[in-house]
Amino acid sequence: MNQIKTIEWRNDSLILIDCRELPMKEEYLVCNNYNTLAMAIKNLAVRGAPAIGVSAAYGVVLASIEAKNRDKESFVDYIKKAILELSETRPTAVNLFWSLNRMDNKLNTLLSLNNEDIKKELLKEAHKIYNEDIKTNIKIGIYGNEVVDLNSNIITHCNAGALATAGYGTALGVIRAAHKDNKNIHVYVDETRPLLQGSRMTAWELLKEGIPSTLIADSMAAHAMKLNKIDMVIFGADRIATNGDVANKIGSYSLSIVAKEHNIPVYVAAPISTIDPNISSGDDIPIEIRDDREIIEFHGVQTAPNEINVYNPAFDITPSHLIAGIITEKGILRPPYKLSIKKALEF
Ligand code: MRU
Repeated sequence: MNQIKTIEWRNDSLILIDCRELPMKEEYLVCNNYNTLAMAIKNLAVRGAPAIGVSAAYGVVLASIEAKNRDKESFVDYIKKAILELSETRPTAVNLFWSLNRMDNKLNTLLSLNNEDIKKELLKEAHKIYNEDIKTNIKIGIYGNEVVDLNSNIITHCNAGALATAGYGTALGVIRAAHKDNKNIHVYVDETRPLLQGSRMTAWELLKEGIPSTLIADSMAAHAMKLNKIDMVIFGADRIATNGDVANKIGSYSLSIVAKEHNIPVYVAAPISTIDPNISSGDDIPIEIRDDREIIEFHGVQTAPNEINVYNPAFDITPSHLIAGIITEKGILRPPYKLSIKKALEF
């Protein structure tokens, strides 16, 4: 296991490594009420689909602690309000809704208990979601390692590592597993404009782990592929439609197109909970549009004129025909995805 603690429950609070400050500062944010956590999700102090889902589950526990002295009806109402507000923080990563749904269903089975016991049971469920996420990532790593050649140059986009999950990571989980298996791998890290999750977080994680890596600007990937410097692409996912279309960080789509042009396989690493059984095509996945300031400035330093019009979608859709396989904890799903995804959701 890696040493990075992204999310930790301690003394009735949720402690999050503040991803906005990395790699310059390793700071931790203490959330002791669900509003602070909701803000941390919105402003990307905690980010990455699984990490958002896991922390939101603890957010429901925070609400139960805040409301513990209320009468039962008002206590339950308060927790339900927290679930609703947490679900409104970010629209694309389905893990958020998956995990809040699970907490809501759990709450509905606990209504005959007293407030203290409801809180205890909700905390148990949140711990379960946390532990399952780590176990899932380790399995994804084991399956994914099967498609990594003994000598491999891998490119990854954004951060799908320990910092984006409860620990270990999905795409970086595969990379960790291959490195641990003594494969001779080297990782090209896309910096991932505009918020630099690649250069700030993925580069930081890989260096910490001693995995050979090289940072490039996003626009350099095609050139590196043309020069045969890259053998495979692996990235994570925020939501997967039942036809295999994948929503991931903006730039994943263009990376996949250039990979196709150079006959380089694109793998997506994600837990089954990232598949949305209610969405049949990527066209129906809601794409988050973020604040203009994220393009006009970085960390408070202006990089464009204030008056310029900005378009800032945080995610894009990679169509399933560009994807060689979806690495999950149940194995690698292959085309035709409608069929392999249906089977994976069934068993
Ligand atoms: O906006 P972010 O930083 O939350 O976006 C994160 C990504 O796009 C990740 O690649 C995705 O959530 C998978 S994380 C295992």
